[in-house]
Amino acid sequence: MNKKIALVTGANKGIGYETAKQLAQAGVKVLAASRNKEKGEAAVASLKKEGLDVEFLQLDVLNENDIDNAYNFIQEQFGKLDILVNNAGIQIESTEWASNTAVQVNEAALRETLDTNFFSIVKLTDKLLPLIKKSGSGRIVNLSSILGSLALHADENSPIYSSKLFAYNASKTILNAYTIHLAAAVKNDGIKVNAAHPGWVKTDMGTDAAPMNVAEGAKTSVSLALLDEKGPTGKYIHLEQVLPW
Ligand SMILES: NC(=O)c1ccc[n+]([C@@H]2O[C@H](COP(=O)([O-])OP(=O)(O)OC[C@H]3O[C@@H](n4cnc5c(N)ncnc54)[C@H](OP(=O)(O)O)[C@@H]3O)[C@@H](O)[C@H]2O)c1
Repeated sequence: MNKKIALVTGANKGIGYETAKQLAQAGVKVLAASRNKEKGEAAVASLKKEGLDVEFLQLDVLNENDIDNAYNFIQEQFGKLDILVNNAGIQIESTEWASNTAVQVNEAALRETLDTNFFSIVKLTDKLLPLIKKSGSGRIVNLSSILGSLALHADENSPIYSSKLFAYNASKTILNAYTIHLAAAVKNDGIKVNAAHPGWVKTDMGTDAAPMNVAEGAKTSVSLALLDEKGPTGKYIHLEQVLPW
């Protein structure tokens, strides 16, 4: 079987759903993972209606049993994983993006955010890494955000200077650190690991105020998932542009 196999987390809606769709349209077999069975199955049914090769996988990224089951399923069915898109994420501390929560955010919210946006990604990636190594040309895409950029947060003239949602932003900063470290660790295994900033995208998280639609918003994830062997690794990318860490 020559088809590439991809796993996309949080694929029932938003950027994850659209990423699953565009990867399947590019000829990849996509395991569209969602924590909620009904929502996940409904999303997969609508993609299948378009004739796309997509399968539902139940995966709450915070649930270790789900992570083990995902590993076992992929190992048994395919024996390898070519693409992992760590897309699932949360932003729980404020509905106001242009705010500063550093003196308000409580420890529970900080931990919950880091658990979903960082620790779960390390756990899932670690578990699946032996299968990704078997691909020979594995691609790992970590959904970061421009809001994780320390360089831009430190610059008073940057467009994100006023958007200091501490828990969310810090979760993406540490995910960026993981991206760089992991990319270096697996560079001799044919695996490329990059951090994606999708742009500010109209989704439940991005809100209707966002300028980009989901089709545009999924482009960075999709292009990083489909990088050829000359493509970058250990980079922080929005569309074709490299962002400062
Ligand atoms: N939208 C933007 O402007 C923007 C900008 C920069 C970065 N991002 C990043 O892009 C990614 C996708 O964002 P989005 O805008 O598409 O957000 P969204 O519409 O809120 O979708 C988030 C997805 O993550 C899933 N999820 C959350 N916690 C999960 C868990 N524990 N296990 C499994 N799935 C879980 C959600 O599932 P449920 O439906 O079950 O809640 C949903 O499928 C996120 O990592 C986000 O931080 C988005």
